[in-house]
Amino acid sequence: LTTKDLAGEHILITAGPTREELDPVRFISNHSSGKMGYAIAKAARRRGAAVTLVTGPTCLTEPCGVATIQVTSAEEMRQAVMAAFPASTIIIKAAAVADYRPVARAVAKIKKTAGSLSLELEKNPDILFELGKIKADKILIGFAAETGDLLDNAAKKLTVKNVDMIVANDIGAEGAGFNVDTNIVKLLFKDGRVEDVPLMGKQELADVLLDRAVKLKGR
Ligand code: PMT
Repeated sequence: LTTKDLAGEHILITAGPTREELDPVRFISNHSSGKMGYAIAKAARRRGAAVTLVTGPTCLTEPCGVATIQVTSAEEMRQAVMAAFPASTIIIKAAAVADYRPVARAVAKIKKTAGSLSLELEKNPDILFELGKIKADKILIGFAAETGDLLDNAAKKLTVKNVDMIVANDIGAEGAGFNVDTNIVKLLFKDGRVEDVPLMGKQELADVLLDRAVKLKGR
């Protein structure tokens, strides 16, 4: 039985890594596979939402019935997210956005020399932070990928980024985080509540996250 409990909602989801290019052949990125974000997009579609998925480069197949926008860099992801934001009612940011990018992208391949090489990096825009400032009554859900002090760091992100819920991911735990089919998370809410979600498949977790989004919406 499929419940269309998200009918009428427009859910914007981000997934995957971003790539920040150094030159025509090299980039800075991370281990995100896109599995978590794509799982949420599929579940949201199945439950009747109109879904826009903004995704960095992954090996995954675009989900059926989902408006998928492929991007590469954080700046491209920002532009796509900002364009889709006004029409959306719920935003879930599972993407692993690179915090830094090279100050300049070399036009030609950077040549190997005898010495060492230093890269100068500058900060990327924090898309979730920007959305937090303009969210109004939209439901905004962020992730926090941490290797230590999980609850403290996630709680800071909840407040600073002004989101309704943070999905805190201890990416050092077995069966959690990047490029696996399962996850283990804690959900942090504005009223101080923390909910432990045990090890489960990312597809199953996607439904748990959408259940909480439905509650936050007061549906
Ligand atoms: O893709 P998978 O292989 O399935 O792995 C899933 C995952 C580990 C990537 C996912 O569960 C996860 O934790 N995603 C968030 C990764 C991350 O970048 O966390 P963060 O703590 O650095 O960022 C916090 C939040 O701010 C995130 O919602 C992120 O999308 C957002 N952000 C971060 C930096 C930035 N410049 N702009 C952002 O919008």
